[in-house]
Amino acid sequence: MSFHPIEQAPGRLNRSELAVPGSQPQMFEKAAQSDVDVIFLDLEDAVAPDEKVQARKNIIRALNEIDWNTKTMSIRINGLDTHYMYRDVVDVLEQAGERLDLIMIPKVGTAADVYAVDMLATQVEDATGLKKRVGFEHIIETALGMQNVNEIAGASKRNESLHFGVADYAASMRARTTVIGGVNAHYSVLTDPEQDGSRGVHWGDMWHSAIANMVVAARANGLRPIDGPFGDFSDPDGYKAAAYRAAVLGCEGKWAIHPSQIALANEVMSPSDDEIEKANRILAAMADAEAAGKGAVSLDGRLIDYASIRQAEVLVEKAKQIAA
Ligand code: GLV
Ligand code: MG
Repeated sequence: MSFHPIEQAPGRLNRSELAVPGSQPQMFEKAAQSDVDVIFLDLEDAVAPDEKVQARKNIIRALNEIDWNTKTMSIRINGLDTHYMYRDVVDVLEQAGERLDLIMIPKVGTAADVYAVDMLATQVEDATGLKKRVGFEHIIETALGMQNVNEIAGASKRNESLHFGVADYAASMRARTTVIGGVNAHYSVLTDPEQDGSRGVHWGDMWHSAIANMVVAARANGLRPIDGPFGDFSDPDGYKAAAYRAAVLGCEGKWAIHPSQIALANEVMSPSDDEIEKANRILAAMADAEAAGKGAVSLDGRLIDYASIRQAEVLVEKAKQIAA
């Protein structure tokens, strides 16, 4: 290990994160009773400008009055380039800070953006005597945010997670697509022709490198990487495939933009019984190897060593967290 210690963000379960527009209070109760791990009440892009002020009031009331049980509660504030943002932070923290766990900062571009919200939150917390310190989640969804993702990830002790905002990221990159989080037939290559002239089409994942970049910045700073929205809520298989590919890269959760996506995210982001069983067998085999003075052994015809212990521990710890 490096001499540089990585402090880990609080170990919250963040397999699924439900977006709920602050302007739709009739959706709040159902969200509170769902199996989602984190809820963000939205003040930003799902709320029309005329509804921003009322949405803020709805959210303050709901945080105070609804029983959200053990759910982690977040608000997505408006961007730092709008005049709504300061009241989003000040009013909600002042009036509902006891029940608010996280603030989600959209379109974060630089470490100074994080600093600004940190300063504002600190002033409110100090002035109101709030003991709890609100955490930050950042949506990486612009070219600037991706360029500065490492600095953003390390910019505040409040930071807990980075989220890949695929829709705004596509817009910021001027990518030729209008889907939210799905694949694109034009991001593909053709195989060379077979003898009969036929050719295969190999679809690629155009977001691979962006997600992988964000995961590195998150993990190097002890934060949770979370994959963002998948717009086609009538395509559960497409959603699960997108969630699995994010999980394989290291993401530990995915957004749900519709309640039907919560169970899908929880399923994909929880280690399966087979994975846990295999991880426990690896740990047992390595314990035996260590007792026999060996650093590497074979299990099911494959090499395992001390790195395998660390891989297995990730899965076993996650299973324990879910069980708890
Ligand atoms: C989320 O905010 C996105 O833009 O995908
Ligand atoms: Mg966005």
